[in-house]
Amino acid sequence: MNILSGKKVLLGITGGIAAYKTTYLTRLLVKAGVSVKVVMTPSAKDFVTPLTLSTLSKNPVLSTFTNEDDDNDMWNNHVDLGLWADLMIIAPCTANTMSKMVNGTVDNLLLAVYTSAKCPVYFAPAMDLDMYKHPSTTQNFEKLASYGNFMIPAGDGELASGLSGKGRMAEPEEIVSFIEQQLLKEQPLRGKKCLITAGPTHESIDPVRFIGNHSTGKMGMALATDLANRGVLVTLIMGPSSVKTDNVLIERINVISAQEMYEAVHANINNQDYAIFSAAVADYKPAIPAHQKIKKSSETLTLELVKNPDILASVGAMESHPFLVGFALETENEMEHAFAKAKKKNTDLLILNSMNDNGAGFGIDTNKITIIDNQGNAQEFPVKSKTLVAKDIVDEIVKRTS
Ligand code: C5P
Repeated sequence: MNILSGKKVLLGITGGIAAYKTTYLTRLLVKAGVSVKVVMTPSAKDFVTPLTLSTLSKNPVLSTFTNEDDDNDMWNNHVDLGLWADLMIIAPCTANTMSKMVNGTVDNLLLAVYTSAKCPVYFAPAMDLDMYKHPSTTQNFEKLASYGNFMIPAGDGELASGLSGKGRMAEPEEIVSFIEQQLLKEQPLRGKKCLITAGPTHESIDPVRFIGNHSTGKMGMALATDLANRGVLVTLIMGPSSVKTDNVLIERINVISAQEMYEAVHANINNQDYAIFSAAVADYKPAIPAHQKIKKSSETLTLELVKNPDILASVGAMESHPFLVGFALETENEMEHAFAKAKKKNTDLLILNSMNDNGAGFGIDTNKITIIDNQGNAQEFPVKSKTLVAKDIVDEIVKRTS
């Protein structure tokens, strides 16, 4: 699958003759599975029509803060556009726009979007050869790079002036390939595989009741999303949870009981590079679930429970297994229990969270963890969002496996 597939790209077009090439660039991006939205400077419309670009991108093209021709005039929110995009491409990028990008001048919608965008920005300069060589241009290239923007260098060739030299905007194929290469460099885990268990398990008492716990699956989903964003193919084995999955790299297998989770794990564990067990698996299940709803006929009710298989320990006991990460949620003697658990289950890393810590536990959006390795080292982290905790855990896995 193309690394650009599924990405949201904002294409900013400025007023240079190379703007005509953006029709083909838009086509290439759409063909690669990208959602494209186009923002043009007013002068870019002298070179290529918004109608062509809206037809090719299948989205309205914006160039002003308000749409004057529209009776139901709305403000085009540059902040929303900047937040929507996974990346922004400014092509062609004229000397004039470059200089405004350097100085923070915001006199059109494209510059407002650029200045508020949080995503990576690529710019493909296009200008005549003497403008390209001018010291101010060279300085602007350096300044923009120092702001974290990626320059897609211009090529040599015939220019609109009739002169020949450096300043031709990179061809659309080169622009796409440049971005693909950059994205690949940023994803050293691309193509790796990870199995994750997440959420609670429900153990049937009778057809309408179960034994369960308060796990929501948020931590496991945050891990799956972080890994998928780094190009990892994730097999997410999820107990009953309302948390949604919307990443093409996450294959979700829904299970209900610990036994089902055990079977799904062992059907998928081979060829995984990493396995993370974040599920809150019920330790016990009713020995014999009733076939009919249990009636409340007596004052007390005794259920006989039997042990569920320990899924993590079963993988830890395999002769060859993926890099293994377990979780331990403790309520007392946290460190002592966690070290014992890491040893017993043979984990490479054990993520300890304590119910006694504010900001850690079930259902909330934050967690506080200590990472314990198999050499007896413990590293404590502050309270963070589950998204950032997931990033810390994956960074630690990368550090120890690369
Ligand atoms: O023993 P304890 O339940 O505290 O261990 C927690 C770790 O073991 C978690 O990683 C959890 O997902 C995993 N586990 C499991 N199967 C069980 C119980 C726990 O995989 N039956």
